[in-house]
Amino acid sequence: MDSDVLIQTENLHVRFSRQKEPDIYAVRSLNLTLKEKETLALVGESGSGKTTTGQTLVRLLRPNLGTIRFNGEDVSRIRGKSLARYHSRAQLIFQDPFASLNPFHTVSYHLQRPLRRLRKLSSKEAREACSELLAQVGLTPHATFENKYPHELSGGQRQRVAIARSLAANPLFIVADEPISMLDVSLRAGILQLLESLQAKQGLTYLYITHDLASARYLSQRIAVLYGGSLAEIATAEDLVQHPAHPYTQLLLQASVQSPGKEAVPLPEKHPGAPDLSMNRPGCPFAPRCLYAWKKCEEEMPQLIPIAPHHKVACFLTSSPPEKPNNVQGP
Ligand SMILES: Nc1ncnc2c1ncn2[C@@H]1O[C@H](COP(=O)(O)OP(=O)(O)OP(=O)(O)O)[C@@H](O)[C@H]1O
Ligand SMILES: [Mg+2]
Repeated sequence: MDSDVLIQTENLHVRFSRQKEPDIYAVRSLNLTLKEKETLALVGESGSGKTTTGQTLVRLLRPNLGTIRFNGEDVSRIRGKSLARYHSRAQLIFQDPFASLNPFHTVSYHLQRPLRRLRKLSSKEAREACSELLAQVGLTPHATFENKYPHELSGGQRQRVAIARSLAANPLFIVADEPISMLDVSLRAGILQLLESLQAKQGLTYLYITHDLASARYLSQRIAVLYGGSLAEIATAEDLVQHPAHPYTQLLLQASVQSPGKEAVPLPEKHPGAPDLSMNRPGCPFAPRCLYAWKKCEEEMPQLIPIAPHHKVACFLTSSPPEKPNNVQGP
């Protein structure tokens, strides 16, 4: 493993069992690497497995198969004290700041609890550290916020408290799961800038989960595209947006440039709709929607293959195209 790698997953599988219904294969064969101090964006439509991936990386979920290494240590199946120690290094910021804060507790309670439990600070030290955390996330003067309850704060202020709480643990790695999607558009840039400046000051590594390619491009150095629980493509942010190779990435980009408010133009795809995750079927999960799919795509799972430096794609069109595609031009 390279010395600057912070997190590495190998062949990660997460399956949800359901009563009287088929299991859901939410994450399949996922190989991801995050380097120290980088931001990797994980994009994909609803149900593609982004949250499941993020929660598994910070070990709120346990993978069914495969490994997660953090600084070289296998954390995939740790429990008890080892898991608690890992949780002070790897934190998650939820999409909905209101739901992630307890309405019966004040801001200072939310921040001082992890400071005492995870950093083992005394009450006096925790009070001081709480004021510092509020200043770090731009909630000043701190005395104005310390005794407030979540409902007394605006959405942006609540998300700042949630960010401060994740920092209280003194983490190296933060999964930010759609941290701006529930905020007013006018507040979004401020939260992204805050995440950016905290990273620069504290050397944090982020997995930034989003539907929104524009914010992924703003915040991250690399973008990974997830479809049906598998990686479709991964590249530097610029390369992915300028030279998308996977038909699904191309579709995402076309969807992202449609003007809000105007009638949506139908996207070029065979059968719109999310993939069926209820069976561990063979083949590329995107094949049923893909205009360019042929027999092999239905039968075999394409592997991620490098097509340029720092750019990998899981698509037979790029790795082993048919000699005569089905009367269609490649993307
Ligand atoms: N606890 C669970 N039990 C059963 N199925 C689940 C559970 N959590 C997630 N799933 C299913 O796993 C799949 C992936 O869900 P996940 O929440 O990871 O997607 P997502 O990409 O984060 O979607 P969104 O963009 O809507 O947040 C979905 O089909 C979802 O219904
Ligand atoms: Mg999600």
